[in-house]
Amino acid sequence: MDNEQKLSKDPQSYWMESTKRPVFSELQEDLSVDVAIVGGGITGVTAAYLLVKEGFRVAVLEASSLLGGTTGHTTAKITAQHGLFYDQLIQKLGEEKARLYYQANKEAGEFVEQVIKLHGIECDFRKEDAYVYTNSADYLKDLDKEAKAYETLGIDGGFVEDIPLQIANKGAVVMKNQAQFHPLKYLTFLVEYIQENGALIYENTVVNGMDEGDTMTVKTKNGSNVQAKYVIAASHFPFHDDKGFFARMEPERSYVIAIKSEKPFPGGMYINAEKPTRSVRSANMDGEEILLVSGDHHKTGQGKPEMERYQALEQYAQQQFASHKILYRWSAQDYSTLDKVPYIGRIGKNQPNLFVGTGYRKWGMTHSNVAALLFTDLILGRENPYEALFTPSRFDAPQASIQKAIKMNANVAAQLVSGKLESPDKELKDIKPGEGAAVSIKGARAGAYRNEQGELFVVDTTCTHMGCEVNWNSGDRTWDCPCHGSRFTYEGDIVEGPAKTPLKKIDPDNIDYTTSK
Ligand code: FES
Repeated sequence: MDNEQKLSKDPQSYWMESTKRPVFSELQEDLSVDVAIVGGGITGVTAAYLLVKEGFRVAVLEASSLLGGTTGHTTAKITAQHGLFYDQLIQKLGEEKARLYYQANKEAGEFVEQVIKLHGIECDFRKEDAYVYTNSADYLKDLDKEAKAYETLGIDGGFVEDIPLQIANKGAVVMKNQAQFHPLKYLTFLVEYIQENGALIYENTVVNGMDEGDTMTVKTKNGSNVQAKYVIAASHFPFHDDKGFFARMEPERSYVIAIKSEKPFPGGMYINAEKPTRSVRSANMDGEEILLVSGDHHKTGQGKPEMERYQALEQYAQQQFASHKILYRWSAQDYSTLDKVPYIGRIGKNQPNLFVGTGYRKWGMTHSNVAALLFTDLILGRENPYEALFTPSRFDAPQASIQKAIKMNANVAAQLVSGKLESPDKELKDIKPGEGAAVSIKGARAGAYRNEQGELFVVDTTCTHMGCEVNWNSGDRTWDCPCHGSRFTYEGDIVEGPAKTPLKKIDPDNIDYTTSK
C-alpha cells in the first residue's frame, strides 16, 4: 500500500493497534464506592492505581473504550520539557511557581519509572534526552532565554550548538534524562493491577449528571447511579462543567504519522521551536525501530483541511528521513488553559471532594501523573506542594488572565457568527464517495458524508453545546466544533467535548429540514 492509499484509510494509532486491551461491560446497576473516577485514560487509571493501593474502593466509568481517547493517541514523551516554556513561566508566574511546575513534572516522570521498575512492566521504557531545536536565527534568542531559565531553576541541561539528529538546526536546548515508552503497554498492566485489587471498571458508560453533597451521586445515561464520597473528573473535558471550563480552555488538534526511516536514528526526542511544530521520537515495533513524526496543531474545527496536515507531515518525513512508508496515522485533541498551566485539583473552593484534571496542553504523560498523585494526596488529607499552583480555582478572580479569556471568547464569537453567515455552495448530489462537506438544503446549512459504498449520512450542523456550526474534519471523518471543541461522528454521535447531546440526524431519503438557523 503506498502512502497516498495509507492516508486515505481510517486513522489508526500504533499504540492502540499493538496492544490487546481488556474489555469491560457497561454499568447496569447502582453502586456505592469510596471514589468514582469518570474517565478511563491515563489520569483515571493512574489515580485508580494509587487509590486501590491505599485501600479505597474505586469505580472507573469510561464513556467509550478504556485508554481509547487522547491517551491512546499521544506521542508518549515522558518529559518535563514542554517546548520553550520555562522562561515564559518565570516571566508570567515568577520563579517560585516555575520551579514548582518543573518539580511536579519531573517527579511525575520519576513516579512512572518507579512503577515500571516496581512491577517489571515491559513497555519499551527508555531514557532519552529531550531537545527543543530551531533552524531559525530568530528563535536563537528564545533558546538562549530558555537556557538561562534552566540555569535559574536548576534544570539539568542547557544550550547546545548541535543535536544528535541529522536535521538542519542552528542550536537547541536540551533537558537531560527524560524518557519515552509505549503508553498502552504500561497502562494495560495498571488496568489489570487495579482490577485484581478490587477496582470496578466499566466501559460504554456515559455519565451525564451528578448530584453533589456529602455523598455524591454520579448518574449515567442508562439510569444507573454511583454513590461516592469522592469524585474525580478525569474525562479530558470535565464531564461536570458548573465552573464554565469551556470558556477558559482552548481545544487543539495535532497529528502523528509513524514511519519507517531510511536513515539510522541516533536516539533523543526532538521538537522544534518555530511553527509549524515538528516533533520526532522513535518507537519499537516488533523489534524494529520506527519514528513518530508529529505536529501541525491547530484550533479544533478551524483552519485548512485536516488531511493536508498529514500530507505536510509526510512531506517533512520524506525530506528529513527519506521515509518511504507510512505505517500508521492518527490525531489527538488537547486543551490549553488561560495561563498554559493545567487545571488540577478541587474543582471549586466549596467542593472539597470533587476533583478535576484537564488542560494538559499536549504534555499529558507527566501532567496526568501530577494529577493522580495530587488527587491521592488531597483525598488522604496529605500536604501537596503543587496544590496551589494547579488549583482550578485560580481564575475565580480572573484579573490575571482576563486578556487571554477575552481573546479566546472573541474567537468563539467570531466562529459563531461566521458559521451562521456561511452559505455552503455544495448540495447533497455533489458529495462523492469518501467525501464529507457542509451542504445547502433548502437554503439551510447541513452536513453530509457519503461512505465508500455510496451511503449518505446527513446531520444538522448546529452544535448541541452552544449552537456554533460544526465543520467537516477530513482527517478523522468527524464533525468538529470550532468554538469549544466538541466532536461528533459522521452520524452525529458524540466523540468528545462539552456537548452532551448528539447532532440531529437528518434522513436523506425523507428530507423535511426546517431550521431556525
Ligand atoms: Fe461549544 Fe460547540 S462546543 S458550541
